[in-house]
Amino acid sequence: MILGISIVIFVLVEGILIFSILRYRERPGTPNPFQNHGNLKLELVWTVIPTLVLFVILFFTIRGLLYVAPENEPAATAAQPRIEVTAIGHQWWWEFYYPNYNVTTADTLEVPVGTTVHVNLFSNNVIHSFWVPALTGKTDLIPGHANTKWFVAEKQGTYTGICAEYCGTQHANMRFNVKVVNNDDFKSWMSTQQQAASAPTDPLAQKGADLFKNQCASCHGIVGVNLKQFYNTAQECTDLPGGKPNGSPQCLIGPNLTHFGSRSLIAGGVLDNNTENGNCDPNNPKLKEQCNLAKWLNDPQGIKPGNDMNIGSLTNEQIQQLVAYLEGLK
Ligand code: CUA
Repeated sequence: MILGISIVIFVLVEGILIFSILRYRERPGTPNPFQNHGNLKLELVWTVIPTLVLFVILFFTIRGLLYVAPENEPAATAAQPRIEVTAIGHQWWWEFYYPNYNVTTADTLEVPVGTTVHVNLFSNNVIHSFWVPALTGKTDLIPGHANTKWFVAEKQGTYTGICAEYCGTQHANMRFNVKVVNNDDFKSWMSTQQQAASAPTDPLAQKGADLFKNQCASCHGIVGVNLKQFYNTAQECTDLPGGKPNGSPQCLIGPNLTHFGSRSLIAGGVLDNNTENGNCDPNNPKLKEQCNLAKWLNDPQGIKPGNDMNIGSLTNEQIQQLVAYLEGLK
């Protein structure tokens, strides 16, 4: 509506301007134009009309604001269940923590259909904004300030979410998915997520596990390896009142990787975890071209310049070992 009004005014004003420039341009022998010092009637017209137009726009703006104003979050009932999640904005990826289940994941927020999802929003660095256009509007994550929002997904499916507040060079690559599943699928997914990682039996993956402990464990956590349990980054690692200061030993910089192999997105949502068709089979001769995890391990700064993943260069064997280990963490 506002766009329509603006187009009409734009075309009218620019049209008259261009017409005047062409029609009344200076030509040889043209006398000086008529000098006019004010015209009350004209000035009233071009003051009153824009004022009226702005009031019309104001009316529709206020109506739109009332229309999108959030309703109160429904009370949790048997008919309208509710789950709580904590979304933590990092530079540049999303961490999701389920306080009632003590589970941490990254890049994909999995929720049951028809359930009120109460989202606690935290950031321990800069302002981000949580936005899933098909499900809910934008709400900022502000360092030192607890924000919340809620939404209900009525249909199963996968919905794209993005960060909607400029937060640094990779702001555009701070994406996530909201995966809406039925209640049974949610429960079985959750019970898998609650398990600690089991030690690998495959020799290649065992080497990958050693490599993880030596090279990755200072930034990434795996429950059962270098973490005793999932932890709430929001409480442990933000400067919120009552929270521990940044730098507490559990404040790992990178995503918790406990069930990495079960995730559909990696690298802060910019790559699919494309394990289908044997892409990420460690013996795939084209592993580094076909498996996104291998690509990422090979050159994280080339894929997402400026991110915190600074692992130096890995040999092909090391990449094979890490792929075998991490993709095995279902
Ligand atoms: Cu986070 Cu933009």
